[in-house]
Amino acid sequence: MAIRVDDDYQHLKKNVHSHIIERLDEEGIEVERVEKGQVSRFIQGVVDHYVATHRIPMANADQAMLVREMVDEVLGFGPLEPLLADDQINDILINGANSVFVEIAGVLQKVQTRFIDDEHVIRIIRRILAPLGRRLDESSPMVDARLPDGSRVNAIIPPIALDGPSMSIRKFSSKHLTANELVNLGSMTRDCLDLLSNIVESRRNLLVSGGTGTGKTTILNLLSEFIPQDERIVTIEDSAELQLNHPHIVRLETRPANTEGTGRITARDLIINALRMRPDRVIVGEVRSGEIIELLQAMNTGHEGSMSTIHSNSAKDALIRIETLLAVNGYDAGERAIARLIGSSLDVVVQLTRLPNGRRLVSEVVALQPTKSDPYRMETLYRSPEIEWSNTQEAAV
Ligand SMILES: Nc1ncnc2c1ncn2[C@@H]1O[C@H](COP(=O)(O)OP(=O)(O)OP(=O)(O)O)[C@@H](O)[C@H]1O
Ligand SMILES: [Mg+2]
Repeated sequence: MAIRVDDDYQHLKKNVHSHIIERLDEEGIEVERVEKGQVSRFIQGVVDHYVATHRIPMANADQAMLVREMVDEVLGFGPLEPLLADDQINDILINGANSVFVEIAGVLQKVQTRFIDDEHVIRIIRRILAPLGRRLDESSPMVDARLPDGSRVNAIIPPIALDGPSMSIRKFSSKHLTANELVNLGSMTRDCLDLLSNIVESRRNLLVSGGTGTGKTTILNLLSEFIPQDERIVTIEDSAELQLNHPHIVRLETRPANTEGTGRITARDLIINALRMRPDRVIVGEVRSGEIIELLQAMNTGHEGSMSTIHSNSAKDALIRIETLLAVNGYDAGERAIARLIGSSLDVVVQLTRLPNGRRLVSEVVALQPTKSDPYRMETLYRSPEIEWSNTQEAAV
Protein backbone atom coordinates (compact mmCIF):
# COMPACT_ATOMS: atom_id res chain seq x y z
CA MET A 1 0.00 0.00 0.00
CA ALA A 2 1.27 3.44 -0.84
CA ILE A 3 2.41 5.65 1.99
CA ARG A 4 -0.27 8.14 3.12
CA VAL A 5 -0.53 11.15 5.40
CA ASP A 6 -0.43 9.15 8.60
CA ASP A 7 2.07 7.99 11.18
CA ASP A 8 4.20 6.13 8.61
CA TYR A 9 4.41 9.24 6.54
CA GLN A 10 5.35 11.37 9.55
CA HIS A 11 8.04 8.85 10.41
CA LEU A 12 9.34 8.89 6.85
CA LYS A 13 9.42 12.69 6.87
CA LYS A 14 11.47 12.70 10.02
CA ASN A 15 14.02 10.29 8.53
CA VAL A 16 14.20 12.03 5.18
CA HIS A 17 14.60 15.40 6.86
CA SER A 18 17.53 14.16 9.00
CA HIS A 19 19.04 12.64 5.88
CA ILE A 20 18.73 15.92 3.96
CA ILE A 21 20.38 17.82 6.82
CA GLU A 22 23.24 15.29 6.80
CA ARG A 23 23.66 15.55 3.04
CA LEU A 24 23.61 19.37 3.11
CA ASP A 25 26.26 19.18 5.79
CA GLU A 26 28.41 16.70 3.85
CA GLU A 27 28.27 18.91 0.77
CA GLY A 28 28.99 22.01 2.85
CA ILE A 29 25.86 23.72 1.57
CA GLU A 30 24.78 26.66 3.75
CA VAL A 31 21.17 27.13 2.77
CA GLU A 32 21.09 30.83 3.67
CA ARG A 33 23.91 31.56 1.26
CA VAL A 34 22.83 29.53 -1.72
CA GLU A 35 20.18 30.47 -4.25
CA LYS A 36 16.83 28.90 -3.30
CA GLY A 37 16.25 27.15 -6.61
CA GLN A 38 19.57 25.40 -6.28
CA VAL A 39 18.76 24.19 -2.74
CA SER A 40 15.35 22.97 -3.94
CA ARG A 41 16.93 20.97 -6.76
CA PHE A 42 19.44 19.47 -4.35
CA ILE A 43 16.62 18.45 -1.98
CA GLN A 44 14.65 16.92 -4.85
CA GLY A 45 17.69 14.83 -5.79
CA VAL A 46 18.23 13.64 -2.21
CA VAL A 47 14.56 12.73 -1.73
CA ASP A 48 14.32 10.85 -5.03
CA HIS A 49 17.49 8.94 -4.23
CA TYR A 50 16.27 8.12 -0.70
CA VAL A 51 12.90 6.86 -1.89
CA ALA A 52 14.52 4.74 -4.61
CA THR A 53 17.27 3.19 -2.49
CA HIS A 54 14.92 2.46 0.42
CA ARG A 55 12.34 1.06 -2.02
CA ILE A 56 9.57 3.12 -0.49
CA PRO A 57 6.24 2.51 -2.20
CA MET A 58 5.03 5.97 -3.09
CA ALA A 59 2.75 7.37 -5.75
CA ASN A 60 4.41 10.08 -7.85
CA ALA A 61 2.08 12.70 -6.46
CA ASP A 62 2.96 11.73 -2.88
CA GLN A 63 6.65 11.83 -3.67
CA ALA A 64 6.25 15.30 -5.20
CA MET A 65 4.44 16.34 -2.02
CA LEU A 66 7.29 14.97 0.08
CA VAL A 67 9.80 17.02 -1.93
CA ARG A 68 7.66 20.14 -1.52
CA GLU A 69 7.34 19.56 2.20
CA MET A 70 11.07 19.04 2.59
CA VAL A 71 11.81 22.25 0.66
CA ASP A 72 9.37 24.11 2.93
CA GLU A 73 11.05 22.49 5.90
CA VAL A 74 14.57 23.47 4.95
CA LEU A 75 13.90 26.88 3.42
CA GLY A 76 10.70 28.04 5.08
CA PHE A 77 8.32 27.48 7.96
CA GLY A 78 7.64 23.79 7.24
CA PRO A 79 4.01 22.65 7.30
CA LEU A 80 2.91 26.25 7.78
CA GLU A 81 4.01 27.32 4.30
CA PRO A 82 0.88 26.24 2.36
CA LEU A 83 -1.34 27.75 5.04
CA LEU A 84 0.59 31.02 4.98
CA ALA A 85 0.35 31.11 1.18
CA ASP A 86 -3.43 30.55 1.17
CA ASP A 87 -5.07 33.98 0.95
CA GLN A 88 -8.39 32.65 2.17
CA ILE A 89 -6.96 31.81 5.56
CA ASN A 90 -7.04 34.57 8.19
CA ASP A 91 -5.84 32.72 11.27
CA ILE A 92 -3.69 29.64 11.82
CA LEU A 93 -3.95 28.00 15.23
CA ILE A 94 -1.59 25.20 16.24
CA ASN A 95 -2.39 23.30 19.41
CA GLY A 96 0.47 20.83 19.45
CA ALA A 97 1.75 18.67 16.59
CA ASN A 98 -1.50 17.01 15.53
CA SER A 99 -4.07 19.67 15.96
CA VAL A 100 -4.05 22.56 13.51
CA PHE A 101 -7.04 24.78 12.85
CA VAL A 102 -7.53 27.59 10.37
CA GLU A 103 -10.12 30.30 10.11
CA ILE A 104 -11.68 30.89 6.72
CA ALA A 105 -14.50 33.40 6.23
CA GLY A 106 -15.08 33.64 9.94
CA VAL A 107 -15.36 29.90 10.53
CA LEU A 108 -12.77 27.77 12.33
CA GLN A 109 -11.99 24.39 10.85
CA LYS A 110 -9.50 21.62 11.54
CA VAL A 111 -7.03 20.90 8.75
CA GLN A 112 -4.95 17.86 7.77
CA THR A 113 -1.70 19.71 8.45
CA ARG A 114 0.45 17.86 10.95
CA PHE A 115 3.84 18.34 12.49
CA ILE A 116 6.09 15.34 13.05
CA ASP A 117 6.05 15.86 16.79
CA ASP A 118 6.05 18.65 19.36
CA GLU A 119 9.77 19.16 18.89
CA HIS A 120 9.07 19.90 15.25
CA VAL A 121 6.54 22.57 16.24
CA ILE A 122 9.10 24.16 18.52
CA ARG A 123 11.72 24.05 15.78
CA ILE A 124 9.43 26.00 13.46
CA ILE A 125 8.54 28.48 16.20
CA ARG A 126 12.24 29.04 16.85
CA ARG A 127 12.87 29.50 13.14
CA ILE A 128 10.24 32.25 13.13
CA LEU A 129 11.73 33.91 16.19
CA ALA A 130 15.44 33.57 15.36
CA PRO A 131 15.79 36.51 12.96
CA LEU A 132 13.85 38.67 15.41
CA GLY A 133 16.27 38.02 18.24
CA ARG A 134 13.45 36.73 20.45
CA ARG A 135 13.90 33.72 22.64
CA LEU A 136 11.56 30.98 23.73
CA ASP A 137 12.54 28.54 26.43
CA GLU A 138 11.49 27.41 29.87
CA SER A 139 12.43 30.68 31.49
CA SER A 140 10.63 32.70 28.84
CA PRO A 141 7.87 30.36 27.61
CA MET A 142 5.61 32.82 25.80
CA VAL A 143 6.37 35.33 23.13
CA ASP A 144 4.71 37.72 20.68
CA ALA A 145 6.37 38.30 17.35
CA ARG A 146 5.74 39.26 13.77
CA LEU A 147 6.60 37.41 10.57
CA PRO A 148 8.46 39.29 7.84
CA ASP A 149 5.16 39.70 5.96
CA GLY A 150 3.58 41.46 8.95
CA SER A 151 1.57 38.50 10.30
CA ARG A 152 1.18 38.48 14.07
CA VAL A 153 2.40 35.47 16.02
CA ASN A 154 1.99 34.33 19.60
CA ALA A 155 3.76 31.22 20.83
CA ILE A 156 3.56 29.52 24.20
CA ILE A 157 5.23 26.26 25.16
CA PRO A 158 5.25 23.70 27.97
CA PRO A 159 5.31 23.68 30.93
CA ILE A 160 2.92 26.63 30.68
CA ALA A 161 1.02 25.18 27.70
CA LEU A 162 -0.13 21.83 29.02
CA ASP A 163 -0.86 20.02 25.77
CA GLY A 164 2.24 20.91 23.82
CA PRO A 165 3.63 23.97 22.09
CA SER A 166 0.92 26.23 20.83
CA MET A 167 1.13 28.96 18.24
CA SER A 168 -1.50 31.42 17.01
CA ILE A 169 -0.96 33.35 13.82
CA ARG A 170 -3.13 36.24 12.61
CA LYS A 171 -2.18 36.65 9.02
CA PHE A 172 -1.49 40.08 7.72
CA SER A 173 -3.63 41.03 4.82
CA SER A 174 -2.12 43.72 2.61
CA LYS A 175 -5.44 44.47 1.05
CA HIS A 176 -7.72 45.53 3.86
CA LEU A 177 -11.42 45.59 3.18
CA THR A 178 -12.65 48.83 1.66
CA ALA A 179 -15.84 50.68 2.56
CA ASN A 180 -17.59 49.35 -0.54
CA GLU A 181 -16.51 45.79 0.14
CA LEU A 182 -17.77 45.99 3.71
CA VAL A 183 -21.13 47.27 2.48
CA ASN A 184 -21.27 44.58 -0.21
CA LEU A 185 -20.39 41.88 2.32
CA GLY A 186 -23.36 43.04 4.36
CA SER A 187 -21.16 44.14 7.27
CA MET A 188 -22.84 47.52 7.38
CA THR A 189 -25.50 49.41 5.49
CA ARG A 190 -24.64 52.44 3.41
CA ASP A 191 -26.47 54.56 6.01
CA CYS A 192 -24.22 53.15 8.68
CA LEU A 193 -21.17 54.01 6.59
CA ASP A 194 -22.39 57.60 6.17
CA LEU A 195 -23.07 57.82 9.88
CA LEU A 196 -19.56 56.61 10.72
CA SER A 197 -17.93 59.02 8.32
CA ASN A 198 -19.92 61.91 9.88
CA ILE A 199 -18.89 60.82 13.35
CA VAL A 200 -15.22 60.81 12.39
CA GLU A 201 -15.36 64.09 10.50
CA SER A 202 -17.10 65.80 13.40
CA ARG A 203 -14.28 64.70 15.71
CA ARG A 204 -16.20 62.45 18.06
CA ASN A 205 -14.00 60.34 20.33
CA LEU A 206 -14.69 56.79 19.43
CA LEU A 207 -14.08 53.20 20.46
CA VAL A 208 -14.60 50.20 18.22
CA SER A 209 -15.67 47.31 20.44
CA GLY A 210 -15.89 43.62 19.60
CA GLY A 211 -14.69 40.12 20.39
CA THR A 212 -11.57 38.48 19.01
CA GLY A 213 -11.34 38.68 15.24
CA THR A 214 -14.63 40.52 14.78
CA GLY A 215 -12.95 43.10 12.54
CA LYS A 216 -12.01 45.86 15.00
CA THR A 217 -8.71 46.71 13.32
CA THR A 218 -10.38 46.59 9.90
CA ILE A 219 -13.04 49.09 10.98
CA LEU A 220 -10.48 51.35 12.68
CA ASN A 221 -8.57 51.41 9.42
CA LEU A 222 -11.70 52.32 7.53
CA LEU A 223 -12.69 55.06 9.97
CA SER A 224 -9.25 56.65 9.73
CA GLU A 225 -9.85 57.25 6.06
CA PHE A 226 -12.51 59.76 6.96
CA ILE A 227 -10.06 61.95 8.86
CA PRO A 228 -9.60 65.22 6.95
CA GLN A 229 -6.30 65.39 5.10
CA ASP A 230 -5.02 68.50 6.87
CA GLU A 231 -4.95 66.86 10.31
CA ARG A 232 -1.92 65.32 11.98
CA ILE A 233 -2.34 61.77 13.28
CA VAL A 234 -0.13 59.77 15.62
CA THR A 235 -0.84 56.02 15.74
CA ILE A 236 0.23 53.71 18.55
CA GLU A 237 0.11 49.95 18.16
CA ASP A 238 1.59 46.82 19.68
CA SER A 239 2.29 45.52 16.22
CA ALA A 240 1.72 47.91 13.38
CA GLU A 241 -1.35 46.63 11.50
CA LEU A 242 -3.10 49.83 10.54
CA GLN A 243 -2.56 50.91 6.96
CA LEU A 244 -3.79 54.45 6.93
CA ASN A 245 -4.06 56.17 3.67
CA HIS A 246 -3.31 59.65 4.96
CA PRO A 247 -0.65 62.25 4.17
CA HIS A 248 0.27 63.30 7.70
CA ILE A 249 0.85 60.42 10.00
CA VAL A 250 3.48 59.33 12.53
CA ARG A 251 3.46 55.62 13.41
CA LEU A 252 4.72 54.42 16.78
CA GLU A 253 5.04 50.82 17.92
CA THR A 254 5.45 49.45 21.44
CA ARG A 255 8.40 47.25 22.28
CA PRO A 256 8.60 44.28 24.62
CA ALA A 257 11.47 43.90 27.07
CA ASN A 258 14.70 42.55 25.63
CA THR A 259 16.32 39.31 26.80
CA GLU A 260 17.81 41.13 29.80
CA GLY A 261 14.31 42.23 30.79
CA THR A 262 14.84 45.92 30.05
CA GLY A 263 13.96 48.40 27.33
CA ARG A 264 10.21 47.84 27.39
CA ILE A 265 8.15 50.66 25.91
CA THR A 266 4.44 50.48 26.59
CA ALA A 267 1.44 51.97 24.85
CA ARG A 268 1.12 54.18 27.89
CA ASP A 269 4.64 55.58 27.40
CA LEU A 270 3.85 56.17 23.76
CA ILE A 271 0.59 58.03 24.35
CA ILE A 272 2.38 60.34 26.77
CA ASN A 273 5.07 60.90 24.16
CA ALA A 274 2.53 61.32 21.37
CA LEU A 275 0.87 64.18 23.22
CA ARG A 276 4.16 66.10 22.97
CA MET A 277 4.13 65.66 19.22
CA ARG A 278 1.27 68.06 18.59
CA PRO A 279 -1.16 65.54 17.14
CA ASP A 280 -4.68 66.48 16.16
CA ARG A 281 -5.77 62.94 16.83
CA VAL A 282 -4.27 59.92 18.54
CA ILE A 283 -5.19 56.45 17.29
CA VAL A 284 -4.38 53.56 19.60
CA GLY A 285 -4.60 50.10 18.00
CA GLU A 286 -6.18 48.51 21.06
CA VAL A 287 -6.62 49.45 24.71
CA ARG A 288 -6.05 46.56 27.04
CA SER A 289 -4.26 48.04 30.00
CA GLY A 290 -3.21 51.25 31.74
CA GLU A 291 -3.01 53.23 28.49
CA ILE A 292 -6.76 53.73 28.81
CA ILE A 293 -6.03 56.46 31.38
CA GLU A 294 -3.86 58.49 29.02
CA LEU A 295 -6.15 57.83 26.08
CA LEU A 296 -9.22 59.14 27.89
CA GLN A 297 -7.26 62.14 29.09
CA ALA A 298 -6.05 62.81 25.56
CA MET A 299 -9.64 62.58 24.32
CA ASN A 300 -10.59 65.09 26.98
CA THR A 301 -7.85 67.60 26.36
CA GLY A 302 -7.84 68.86 22.82
CA HIS A 303 -7.34 65.69 20.85
CA GLU A 304 -10.98 65.14 19.99
CA GLY A 305 -11.53 62.63 17.27
CA SER A 306 -9.16 60.13 18.84
CA MET A 307 -9.96 56.48 18.37
CA SER A 308 -9.12 53.03 19.59
CA THR A 309 -10.52 49.52 19.88
CA ILE A 310 -11.50 47.49 22.91
CA HIS A 311 -12.29 43.86 23.43
CA SER A 312 -15.89 43.52 24.62
CA ASN A 313 -19.17 42.03 23.54
CA SER A 314 -21.50 44.99 23.84
CA ALA A 315 -21.31 48.77 24.10
CA LYS A 316 -22.31 48.59 27.76
CA ASP A 317 -19.65 45.95 28.41
CA ALA A 318 -17.09 48.22 26.78
CA LEU A 319 -17.80 50.88 29.41
CA ILE A 320 -17.59 48.34 32.20
CA ARG A 321 -14.32 47.09 30.79
CA ILE A 322 -12.95 50.65 30.72
CA GLU A 323 -13.96 51.05 34.36
CA THR A 324 -12.14 47.85 35.22
CA LEU A 325 -9.05 48.84 33.28
CA LEU A 326 -8.99 52.20 35.04
CA ALA A 327 -9.40 50.59 38.45
CA VAL A 328 -6.79 47.87 38.06
CA ASN A 329 -4.31 50.33 36.63
CA GLY A 330 -4.37 52.64 39.59
CA TYR A 331 -6.89 55.28 38.55
CA ASP A 332 -8.08 55.62 42.08
CA ALA A 333 -10.57 58.46 41.81
CA GLY A 334 -13.79 56.88 43.06
CA GLU A 335 -16.78 55.59 41.17
CA ARG A 336 -18.31 58.95 40.31
CA ALA A 337 -15.10 60.49 39.07
CA ILE A 338 -14.45 57.43 36.93
CA ALA A 339 -17.91 57.62 35.40
CA ARG A 340 -17.40 61.33 34.82
CA LEU A 341 -14.06 60.80 33.12
CA ILE A 342 -15.53 58.15 30.82
CA GLY A 343 -18.68 60.18 30.13
CA SER A 344 -16.79 63.35 29.31
CA SER A 345 -14.14 61.66 27.16
CA LEU A 346 -15.85 59.05 25.09
CA ASP A 347 -18.57 59.96 22.60
CA VAL A 348 -19.34 56.92 20.49
CA VAL A 349 -19.01 53.13 20.65
CA VAL A 350 -19.14 51.13 17.42
CA GLN A 351 -20.01 47.56 18.35
CA LEU A 352 -19.01 44.65 16.11
CA THR A 353 -20.41 41.14 16.18
CA ARG A 354 -19.64 37.88 14.50
CA LEU A 355 -22.73 35.85 13.65
CA PRO A 356 -22.75 32.08 14.17
CA ASN A 357 -22.29 31.60 10.39
CA GLY A 358 -19.02 33.52 10.55
CA ARG A 359 -20.24 36.81 9.09
CA ARG A 360 -18.93 39.91 10.76
CA LEU A 361 -20.95 43.08 11.01
CA VAL A 362 -21.40 46.39 12.75
CA SER A 363 -24.19 45.45 15.12
CA GLU A 364 -24.70 48.80 16.78
CA VAL A 365 -23.45 52.38 16.94
CA VAL A 366 -24.26 54.20 20.16
CA ALA A 367 -23.61 57.70 21.41
CA LEU A 368 -22.75 58.19 25.05
CA GLN A 369 -24.91 60.95 26.50
CA PRO A 370 -24.34 61.12 30.21
CA THR A 371 -26.88 62.69 32.54
CA LYS A 372 -26.48 63.38 36.25
CA SER A 373 -28.49 60.33 37.23
CA ASP A 374 -27.15 58.03 34.51
CA PRO A 375 -23.51 58.64 33.57
CA TYR A 376 -23.68 55.90 30.94
CA ARG A 377 -26.86 56.86 29.17
CA MET A 378 -26.67 55.71 25.59
CA GLU A 379 -28.52 56.72 22.51
CA THR A 380 -28.68 54.25 19.66
CA LEU A 381 -27.59 55.80 16.37
CA TYR A 382 -27.65 52.62 14.30
CA ARG A 383 -28.67 49.03 14.71
CA SER A 384 -28.01 46.26 12.26
CA PRO A 385 -31.25 45.22 10.59
CA GLU A 386 -29.92 41.66 10.55
CA ILE A 387 -29.98 41.18 14.27
CA GLU A 388 -33.04 40.66 16.38
CA TRP A 389 -33.02 43.10 19.24
CA SER A 390 -34.71 42.14 22.44
CA ASN A 391 -36.31 44.54 24.90
CA THR A 392 -33.23 44.49 27.09
CA GLN A 393 -31.38 46.45 24.42
CA GLU A 394 -28.95 43.62 23.88
CA ALA A 395 -28.47 41.85 20.58
CA ALA A 396 -30.01 38.38 20.59
CA VAL A 397 -27.36 36.72 18.43
N1 LIG B 1 -16.61 42.60 7.88
C1 LIG B 1 -15.75 41.63 7.56
N2 LIG B 1 -16.11 40.65 6.73
C2 LIG B 1 -15.25 39.65 6.41
N3 LIG B 1 -14.00 39.55 6.88
C3 LIG B 1 -13.58 40.49 7.73
C4 LIG B 1 -14.42 41.58 8.10
N4 LIG B 1 -13.75 42.37 8.96
C5 LIG B 1 -12.54 41.80 9.10
N5 LIG B 1 -12.42 40.68 8.36
C6 LIG B 1 -11.25 39.80 8.30
O1 LIG B 1 -11.17 39.15 9.56
C7 LIG B 1 -9.83 39.07 10.03
C8 LIG B 1 -9.73 39.74 11.39
O2 LIG B 1 -9.98 41.10 11.24
P1 LIG B 1 -9.35 42.18 12.23
O3 LIG B 1 -7.89 41.99 12.37
O4 LIG B 1 -9.83 43.50 11.77
O5 LIG B 1 -10.09 41.74 13.58
P2 LIG B 1 -9.80 42.22 15.07
O6 LIG B 1 -11.14 42.29 15.76
O7 LIG B 1 -8.98 43.45 15.06
O8 LIG B 1 -8.97 40.99 15.62
P3 LIG B 1 -8.15 40.88 17.00
O9 LIG B 1 -9.18 40.64 18.07
O10 LIG B 1 -7.29 39.68 16.81
O11 LIG B 1 -7.38 42.15 17.15
C9 LIG B 1 -8.99 39.76 8.98
O12 LIG B 1 -8.40 38.78 8.17
C10 LIG B 1 -9.97 40.59 8.17
O13 LIG B 1 -9.60 40.73 6.83
MG1 LIG C 1 -7.16 43.85 16.04
